[in-house]
Amino acid sequence: MTARLAVFASGSGTNLQAMLDHFGTRDSAASVELVISDRESAAALARAERAGVRAEVIPFAKRDPEEVAGALLDVLEAERIDIIALAGFLRLIPARIIERYRGRIVNIHPALLPAFGGRGMFGERVHEAVLASGCLVTGVTVHFVTEHYDEGAAIAQWPVPVRPDDTVASLAARVLAVEHLIYPLAIERLVHSLSGDAPAARLGPPRSFAASDSAAPTSAEIARLVHAAPRTSS
Ligand code: GRF
Repeated sequence: MTARLAVFASGSGTNLQAMLDHFGTRDSAASVELVISDRESAAALARAERAGVRAEVIPFAKRDPEEVAGALLDVLEAERIDIIALAGFLRLIPARIIERYRGRIVNIHPALLPAFGGRGMFGERVHEAVLASGCLVTGVTVHFVTEHYDEGAAIAQWPVPVRPDDTVASLAARVLAVEHLIYPLAIERLVHSLSGDAPAARLGPPRSFAASDSAAPTSAEIARLVHAAPRTSS
């Protein structure tokens, strides 16, 4: 089964791009069939257009959530969407959409939840808070979306080291590179578990993962570690 994926993005859409690249080949577990943004100016819309994927702008600001839910459901149903992936989407998803897609709607967060999450924790603020805390490790979390910001169960987590000389920009870039690797793989696993091909499998570092692996990760090393991760990890 190829799951039909909708990606919701308010901003630059680099995670959307990672999914378009990952799922762009035939026989993929999923295909990106729809991109939804709440902002006309989102660069994600141009990425969708370049890839030939339907893109819709559905404004959320100052609108009744029920009306927004109706507009979302119309297009989600028209495109027969199986799974929704939020990727830098800054609006609270209306309850009716979450009920309809429970267990099939996921988000990516640029930290290891439940730390550094919740209302108002997005973008640079997350990395600022991580640096201010003195944490030595941060990371990426992919989790189910519920009615509350950043609270659903994690389906994938991956650590990223914080270096002594990190700035918000350098840390954000290191985390984002891992997001691009983890998100498509987490969705792939979700598709397999929903279609009954594999038990629900959470994605995390392999048992052999050592601090030295994350001390100086190049993207090739991260890719190697991600691909070496076992199918089941808890
Ligand atoms: C990512 O850091 C993601 O974790 C967060 O928003 C950012 C989106 O970046 N939820 P992009 O739009 O995918 O480039």
